[in-house]
Amino acid sequence: MYFTLFFQELKSILNVLRIDVDVPKHDVGNPFMVLHLPSIESVKNIASRAILIRSVYELWAHGTTYAELNAALQQLPDTFTEPHVKCQESYRFHVTSFNKSIPNKEKIKKIESLASDVLDFQGKVDLKNAKHSYHIVEHYGPFPQPPTEEPVDIYFAKWIADGQREKINEFHLQKRHFIANTSMDAGLSMIMANIGKVEKNMLVFDPFVGSGSLLVAAAIHGAYVLGTDIDYLLLHAKARPSRCNEKKRAADESIRSNLRQYGLDHLYIDALVADSSRSNMWRNNTLFDAIITDPPYGIREGAKKVGTQTVDVTIDEDLKTSGNHYPQRLDYHLSDIFKDLLNFSAKYLHKNGRLVYWFPVSIQTYTEDNIPTHPCLQMVHNCEQKLNTRLSRRLITMEKVKDFSDGIQEAEVRVDHFQEATFREMYFNDSNLQKEKTVGTGKERTAGIDKLTNNVECLDVDDT
Ligand SMILES: C[S@@+](CC[C@H](N)C(=O)[O-])C[C@H]1O[C@@H](n2cnc3c(N)ncnc32)[C@H](O)[C@@H]1O
Repeated sequence: MYFTLFFQELKSILNVLRIDVDVPKHDVGNPFMVLHLPSIESVKNIASRAILIRSVYELWAHGTTYAELNAALQQLPDTFTEPHVKCQESYRFHVTSFNKSIPNKEKIKKIESLASDVLDFQGKVDLKNAKHSYHIVEHYGPFPQPPTEEPVDIYFAKWIADGQREKINEFHLQKRHFIANTSMDAGLSMIMANIGKVEKNMLVFDPFVGSGSLLVAAAIHGAYVLGTDIDYLLLHAKARPSRCNEKKRAADESIRSNLRQYGLDHLYIDALVADSSRSNMWRNNTLFDAIITDPPYGIREGAKKVGTQTVDVTIDEDLKTSGNHYPQRLDYHLSDIFKDLLNFSAKYLHKNGRLVYWFPVSIQTYTEDNIPTHPCLQMVHNCEQKLNTRLSRRLITMEKVKDFSDGIQEAEVRVDHFQEATFREMYFNDSNLQKEKTVGTGKERTAGIDKLTNNVECLDVDDT
């Protein structure tokens, strides 16, 4: 059964808020969902986290025609309507439509056709700053199909709150102090943090931290954040700038400055230059509440890991700047990246903690057997975002369900997707992509993401 990313986010938020309600199965393309929630407070709490919810309403009545809608309004008990209707505070009516735009004149007619005896509000009408907002919400069939002549569903509802979509703008990469070529889009980062069930005072780790976009998103929810990256130059603002108009990076370009930009630096622990293929530096104990990451796909440059056999490699401070004294680097095979990530997460995540990561695939040959498995980790969501006609990436969510015992449980991949070609080869063999090979802005990773809501389809493992 296919769901949109919206369902994963919603289910995760309900989990975080410990709200136990059934989320109905739903068609992709239908943007409305009716939930039976315990209180207005719980509705507000959901909206205060959700990126993919536009607005939440208290549903008063529903019909497939206006006659049905009015009949349903008439059925409302006085005990329910009276406190609202008798309220002296200002109010307004609003018509919202999905999949069709309605001229203002028609909207007014629709408002006038509502059961005025039931909706005889005593307060003053205020179209700009009303205290209460009542909406007719019309649904003209699923997008992207053409709109139906008449609405298929009509709802009358009281507006309660908007979701957090404006945060996508507030945290947009264009305004971010420090970005890298593959910085994760702000909206997706925040959705990943929601799916990772990040909460206040948690400890969240990104082993492929780059410019720290995922740390910013986790810190928004009050989590303490840290990360590692193999790229010393990037973490020390010495890498080539990622913005076209910059010649040199500013000395203060850092993950810390990104967090400071949003007043979140008190939650930043650190970012270490380290190779994720090695975990010797970590204490042998569960450490993290969530691991949220976007591993390298090897498109911009082949993914690398440290090559030396010595177990504990450190880089001497004095040698770093000369550029010649890093430990030798080897190609890091994509399958190994993901197996290492699962092994690491199985060991260092607390029980019930989530691992959320992107996994690149070829659309034609992909099967679920390509996703690495680990006996301690259970896949809970698997969601596809198409990158082009042949390639996509999947947002995989796994939950730690079993304690880890060293050496016994290892990650495995039933069918290695990357044995014959690296993802980089798959990517650049796609003729459509030859045009997109402009290097330097990171646009090829974020371009598709902006179309996020109609581009992402999800297989929700809970429901298969
Ligand atoms: C897709 S980027 C992550 C971008 C990051 N989410 C952001 O918003 O900036 C992958 C990162 O993995 C790092 N990386 C590659 N190989 C690594 C390794 N073996 N260990 C740790 N980091 C590695 C790269 O330097 C790169 O910054």
